[in-house]
Amino acid sequence: MRWLLPTAIILILVGLVGLVFFNYFSFTPSQPGNVRVPFRGPGTPFRSGSFTSNGEQIFFTGTSTRDTITATGGPFWFQMHDGGCANCHGPDGRGGTVAMMGRFTAPNITYKELLKEGFNNDLIKRAITRGQDEKGGSLSSNMPRWHMSDQDLNDVIDYLKTLEP
Ligand code: HEC
Repeated sequence: MRWLLPTAIILILVGLVGLVFFNYFSFTPSQPGNVRVPFRGPGTPFRSGSFTSNGEQIFFTGTSTRDTITATGGPFWFQMHDGGCANCHGPDGRGGTVAMMGRFTAPNITYKELLKEGFNNDLIKRAITRGQDEKGGSLSSNMPRWHMSDQDLNDVIDYLKTLEP
């Protein structure tokens, strides 16, 4: 049985390589049938250049070219992999059902739609950072609480303005 240990070691190595690969290259559909959005795996380098603005990068990846962005809360898979607004609110920001280890609905966060509901820029920032709706009520814990600079908040709001409601 002298081959047993080397074989076991090789299998473990193959498994580790697979895990690393999964972390860097895993993709998940943010909504069934929609464009696939890359997860921000641990240590994933910024995809600078793939986005036309910092706000767009935050929206799709939850990372900023300016500062470190962190988030607390959100569903379990989000805590494991991170991700951007698009992972829940969809690549078009119009929301929908998120089906990933359970199911919940994310609202439309296109800028015009948020204005219609009674949000303004400060209230949008409060929703993003403190998880409060336009009236001050607490949003569900499926919406992560984001820690990002005011500049990053402005950038992501500017991006929401470019989305069709
Ligand atoms: C893991 C899923 C998830 C991610 C990622 C996420 N959200 Fe949300 N968000 C939600 C859910 C779910 C709600 C609704 C919570 C509720 O109704 O109680 C919500 C609510 C909101 C609201 C309030 C909208 C309203 O009509 O009440 C805003 C604004 C918002 N999100 C912006 C963002 C932005 C900007 C990002 C990215 C920086 C983001 N969200 C990332 C799940 C997510």
